[in-house]
Amino acid sequence: MNTTLTDNVFWVGYIDWAVRDFHGYKTGRGSTYNAYLVVDEKTALVDAVKAPYAAALLEQIQSHVPLEKVDYIVCNHAEPDHSGGLPAVMRACPNATLLCNAKCKDALDRHYDTRDWKVQVVADTETLALGRRTLQFFDTPMVHWPESMVTYLVDEGILFSMDAFGQHYASGFRFDDESDLCEVMQEAKTYYANIVLPYGRPVAAALARLGGLTLNMVAPSHGVIWRSHFDTILAAYQAWMVCKPARKVVIAYCSMWGSTRAMAEAVAAGAQELPVEVKLINVDATHDTQIVTEVMDCAAFAAGSATLNMGIMPRMAATLTYLRGLKPLGKAGFAFGSHGWAAKGSEEAARYLEAMQMKPVREPLACRFAPDAATLEACRAAGRALAEVAQRA
Ligand code: FEO
Repeated sequence: MNTTLTDNVFWVGYIDWAVRDFHGYKTGRGSTYNAYLVVDEKTALVDAVKAPYAAALLEQIQSHVPLEKVDYIVCNHAEPDHSGGLPAVMRACPNATLLCNAKCKDALDRHYDTRDWKVQVVADTETLALGRRTLQFFDTPMVHWPESMVTYLVDEGILFSMDAFGQHYASGFRFDDESDLCEVMQEAKTYYANIVLPYGRPVAAALARLGGLTLNMVAPSHGVIWRSHFDTILAAYQAWMVCKPARKVVIAYCSMWGSTRAMAEAVAAGAQELPVEVKLINVDATHDTQIVTEVMDCAAFAAGSATLNMGIMPRMAATLTYLRGLKPLGKAGFAFGSHGWAAKGSEEAARYLEAMQMKPVREPLACRFAPDAATLEACRAAGRALAEVAQRA
């Protein structure tokens, strides 16, 4: 495996082939926790790994330099998938000073016993000479936590971009041009939708700040390193950060005895009368990770729920709660659903869509028990209305 970014700059992270659950995010292709080693007159480790993989990280470092030679450990981000290994790494590297910003120091102090750590707080744009090379630090708040920072290797034009441009993608290849770009971009999109989506404005601010840098490589903390296709991921970020809608309609439903499903299929049939992409999703059979990835770039969305115990179906409530938290912007939509004696499922779904500031295409479309021909035609008409919105995207 090629782990050399450039002369004396190495990937020393951990490939997590097995992980399938990342705080609820279904990581179907695993992940990596990327750490990087810059060897110069002074040696710097940029970021760490999850706690269980600290020994693997130390072994990788030792394949390049003895642990006593590690002078600096940069912590760009305190989230435990990157900082969890720090206590073991700080113990094993007796001469290392940890470099982080003030907010990160506060977060690390609240996660770990840092009393024995040598810590140097760095300021936004501060530089640190390692010898022939220089590190520069840039605060990138809320990409993806308040303390998030990126580190720039000035002379080489390498940006250690933390979570930004990352992918949960385990692979034996470390670089974009060694990998299947379609797979990488799909995982980058899934990562953005499930991790970064609520932070579009901070992402835009960070891209504006960093836009003047020469970027020969962008090395995120998950997935492959961008050295040949950065323009591709950058263009995708520029669309994702504003939730730029595609000509696409997503219809998600949760049925009890098939009536809400029949309504959903009629909505989809109506939408398919126009030349737009239509995705019909049974939430009982689809993970929320995939659902939000589909919703992120749709123009129009419909949520259908049967009524259970005078409320929304619990599985649909979970999906809509997840979507609401991730704040997909700029969608139009409506809610629908079958019920027995009170239209609670569709009403509650409509409140979720309202909370997500979806522009209503129509009022909730409810029906008692099985939909009749008139109801199914109303569903098809609503589907056509969704598609008309998508056509204008
Ligand atoms: Fe990969 Fe926000 O941590």
